Amino acid sequence: SRAGGTDRYAITQREVTAEILPGVRTPLWTYGGTFPGPTIESRRGRPVTVTHRNELPVPTVVHLHGGRTPAASDGYPTDLVTPAGWTQHAGHGMSGHGMSGHGMSGHGMSMHDPRAVTSELTRDYTFPLDQRPALLWYHDHRMDFTAPAIWRGLAGLHIVRDAAEEALGLPAGPRELPLMIADRAFAEDGSLAYPSLDPTLRERPGVREPYVAGVLGDVILVNGAPWPVHEVDAARYRLRLLNASNARHYELAFVDEGDGRLWEFHQIGSDQGLLAAPVTHHTLPMAPAERYDVVVDFSRFPVGSRVRLVNRLGSGRTRDVMAFHVVRKASDDSRVPRVLSTDLPAWRREDAVRVRDFSFRAGRMGEDDTHGWLIGGLPFAPSRTDVTVRHGDTELWRLVADVHHPVHLHLTGFRILSRGGHPPLPHDAGLKDTISLRPGESAELLTRFDAYRGRYLFHCHNAEHEDMGMMANLEVV
Ligand code: C2O
Ligand code: CU
Ligand code: CU
Repeated sequence: SRAGGTDRYAITQREVTAEILPGVRTPLWTYGGTFPGPTIESRRGRPVTVTHRNELPVPTVVHLHGGRTPAASDGYPTDLVTPAGWTQHAGHGMSGHGMSGHGMSGHGMSMHDPRAVTSELTRDYTFPLDQRPALLWYHDHRMDFTAPAIWRGLAGLHIVRDAAEEALGLPAGPRELPLMIADRAFAEDGSLAYPSLDPTLRERPGVREPYVAGVLGDVILVNGAPWPVHEVDAARYRLRLLNASNARHYELAFVDEGDGRLWEFHQIGSDQGLLAAPVTHHTLPMAPAERYDVVVDFSRFPVGSRVRLVNRLGSGRTRDVMAFHVVRKASDDSRVPRVLSTDLPAWRREDAVRVRDFSFRAGRMGEDDTHGWLIGGLPFAPSRTDVTVRHGDTELWRLVADVHHPVHLHLTGFRILSRGGHPPLPHDAGLKDTISLRPGESAELLTRFDAYRGRYLFHCHNAEHEDMGMMANLEVV
């Protein structure tokens, strides 16, 4: 509904069962009864208030990933939406109620920390959306429990549009397809299998923490459906890709089923909206939480062709993502202009008033010396401010990784200046909010903190790494 210049939505988080695999029902945690949750479409600069009500058995937190959002609505991991009747058990911290996430209490917070927990039965999240048009996504962000909550279904899309983008003539309407790609594992009875919730996996000797590297599934879902086939016209399509997997990396390619050849496609956008100009690819790596906006021209295939979207890093059935069946000839007045946008930030290296270094590495943490994932040698602690930046400052951040870490910064997008001392890769173009740091790699990012003041986060978006400590506090003052 619309009132007072704000779009309003109400979402009830609740448990449902749905038939995802044929013949079995899968219990899900959902936003509004579906997985993915309802797609919200907004106009740039028109505020949106989403009222979340929690009917799940556990507290939740909602974060709009990629949103330029005031801190109060950014979904800090301890700003809870609590279900009616839920009680916090002293001493059990956030993992109470018999639903412990990973049992990684080493970085658990103190319940005596006055700023540790805020809790409401329903919570209004207000998003000004004063930002470039982009594919954003909303997902759970509760401390220590984000990975299992997203795994069970707490993810949805939020698209921001504006008139300038619409005037470009890109494929639109039924030829614009938002595609949320996520892998899942299913138990025999159809329920989602998540290792830390499965005691047999947790206790098995030598597999004490099978989820430490990140949880993978062997079923690839696109918008909640396994390996879908989508019928398309022989025309250009705009595919708005999101990797909503907890830990799986993809290297996407379009393959003609006939000859196995890789077909080129045009990247027009990134995490934070349109590029300045299109970039042509034959394959595209996509780490968790990254978004890519691409245009594929199905008119280059004869009617009757099947074009497979595959993951070249997968094998067997995880190699397939989905397929497009070209069913009819059709007229097409869409285009991919050579200039897509002129409003990308013009930050330069010389603008940076500060250089900071962050390592993303495994390490020991907590009293029981458990394995954790650390930023700058430390696991996440809500009570510690890791970085204080001045509002309006431009900063250069240097990141270095041990293994693969997709690093995400809340609040503001960034430019990738370099990777491993080399110029960024072609798909690094534009404004990003998540960078896929490859094993052993370093990278330089440039960003400006000119949005809001307050407490924000940056973290690894391998959701298991995030829950196991690889997150830090950023305070804009
Ligand atoms: Cu997509 Cu802090 O998250
Ligand atoms: Cu985010
Ligand atoms: Cu990581």
